[in-house]
Amino acid sequence: MPEETMPTALPGEDRTFQPSSEFRERSHVSDDSLYELANQDRLGFWEKQAEQLHWFKKWDRVLEWDAPYAKWFIGGKLNISYNCLDRHIQTWRRNKAAIIWEGELGGQRVLTYWDLYREVNKFANVLKERFGVKQGDRVTIYMPMIPELAIAMLACVRIGAAHSVIFGGFSADSIRDRVRDCDSKLIITADGGYRNGQIIPLKSIVDKALSSGNTPVEDVIVVRHIGEGAQVQLHEGRDHWYQQLMDDAPARCQAEELDSETLAFLLYTSGTTGKPKGIMHTTGGYLTGVTYTSKYVFDLKEDDVYWCTADIGWITGHSYIVYGPLSNGATTVMYEGSPGYPDKDRFWSIVEKYGVTILYTAPTAIRTFMSWGDDYPKGHDLSTLRLLGTVGEPINPKAWLWYHNVIGQANCPIVDTWWQTETGCIMISPLPGIAHTRPGSASRPLPGFEAEIVDQHGKPVESGTGGLLIIKSPWPSMLRGIYGDPDRYRDTYWSRFEGFYFTGDGAKFDEDGYYWLLGRVDDVINVSGHRLGTMEIESACVDHPSVAEAAAIGIDHEIKGQAIVAFVTLKLDGSSSRGVEEEIRQHVATRIGAFARPEQVIITAELPKTRSGKIMRRLLRDIATGRALGDTTTLADAAVVQKLKKKYEQLAE
Ligand code: WTA
Repeated sequence: MPEETMPTALPGEDRTFQPSSEFRERSHVSDDSLYELANQDRLGFWEKQAEQLHWFKKWDRVLEWDAPYAKWFIGGKLNISYNCLDRHIQTWRRNKAAIIWEGELGGQRVLTYWDLYREVNKFANVLKERFGVKQGDRVTIYMPMIPELAIAMLACVRIGAAHSVIFGGFSADSIRDRVRDCDSKLIITADGGYRNGQIIPLKSIVDKALSSGNTPVEDVIVVRHIGEGAQVQLHEGRDHWYQQLMDDAPARCQAEELDSETLAFLLYTSGTTGKPKGIMHTTGGYLTGVTYTSKYVFDLKEDDVYWCTADIGWITGHSYIVYGPLSNGATTVMYEGSPGYPDKDRFWSIVEKYGVTILYTAPTAIRTFMSWGDDYPKGHDLSTLRLLGTVGEPINPKAWLWYHNVIGQANCPIVDTWWQTETGCIMISPLPGIAHTRPGSASRPLPGFEAEIVDQHGKPVESGTGGLLIIKSPWPSMLRGIYGDPDRYRDTYWSRFEGFYFTGDGAKFDEDGYYWLLGRVDDVINVSGHRLGTMEIESACVDHPSVAEAAAIGIDHEIKGQAIVAFVTLKLDGSSSRGVEEEIRQHVATRIGAFARPEQVIITAELPKTRSGKIMRRLLRDIATGRALGDTTTLADAAVVQKLKKKYEQLAE
């Protein structure tokens, strides 16, 4: 059982904002009927949503729920890639822009639905015919934000193979752990990607991951993106250029008629142990969830230019850059690089250039823009924007109001969307045409979802009191398990409150039933919207030769939401050198990825522990945030925290 802290901090902001009558009138949802429909007949409501997709064969039964295992749309047959491509090319959308891509260096590519269809067909043939990839196989994708990433994903699901996309910021060690965990024989990568003007040498990182030879990977497909300037060594027999393979590939590859419960993809995410979890999503339920929420939460229309700024390496990019928008036949913008390159107005120049109408980004990004000042957005025409969204972490009212006033020019509803890798799609969010939004609140669960906030014993809390967020009934896009680890699936999500899904998040609701998300209550740190387990960081610290023990905590950070502080004890063998703190920070970045580098490493002679030897992270948090120390009576040695507190205060001076 992870150490759990009941959330108490309650943000205070009671102003409400309403959509304009013009927005409301044009919106897909302009009254409460969707909520009413879902309340009357939840399963019927979900069937209605599933009917928006193309099924080769309709399902026989909607739901089979044998807690904690759900099957949705049983007996139905469909294909995600068919729904995202084939059904659109049979209509006027054939020549509509599917993906508008902007490279960090300024390059631009527009793929129409027909273009995307053709590329995906060919690459599906490459996978199937050249590499023998078949239904049920797992394919790893480690790519920069380029259209080939979406092409590779769509090609996998077209033939019934499950993809496992690894975010391009992860290290060689992380790639190795993940390919081993899911026994993946093929990696698709690129010669490199651009980030902040630098080349990230993705292919070399893959080489390093495979260098020990101790992995299941047999083949590596390499997209040439950088070209000259990327140092790529091809390993004879193992590595293949994507472009050459595509030249020889047949043009059509029929989409497989897949059972609704076919594994669509794995996505690894951090939990409370050192080992990441391979979250499993299946075909029919997942696509139903993302298609429905994309349409209603973003009020997606044919003429929208929709831009989600996430990286496809995370769930937000899977659901709301690729599958949700494409399934709806929308135009989705994809930007390769960083928001500050070549200057701090890059996002606003992209909004202006393409006439973006819907912008979906993260609170961390918003706080960064705020700190850069209003002149950057003000230098651009943002008048095409009509709807704004946020995701990934709680948004503080100040950042919300800045987003509203400076970016939305007080004219765009904001959808603060709460969800998780595990939920597959957005669960708590305003519907923009009708909601009265409040800065800092994600509003109410969307139609079709049943959430509750409970105390430690599972009893619903009163309004205004902090508690734990749970989901009371299965939903179509819920995770189907953790790859290869059913016990962990049960323990993590379903054992805390029997029969209910435990989110790991704290929340409260107010007198109007609005939900206020209060952050994680378990040992998960949310750095810039990226989830990291404290155990994962601790294992990486302890992996450094000088480190004996480590305890990682998250502290509030003005821009990142949370930042990592690692307290470590050193081995007494004299192996540590001066500057070991910096070495340990670097070591964590090498083990996991640069985004996991601790803000601060603090060497201590001892860590505060209970008599049974459990590290008291709560006290470390008190020390690092300068709060008065909480209850220390269970400590084995109370002097340890006093010493540590003193040391911390000296460091801070
Ligand atoms: C947090 C990202 C507050 C939350 C889609 C959740 C949020 C974790 C919000 C999932 C929000 C996400 N308000 N907190 N609108 N959205 N979170 O799996 O703690 O990367 O449990 O999925 O992010 O992170 P994940």
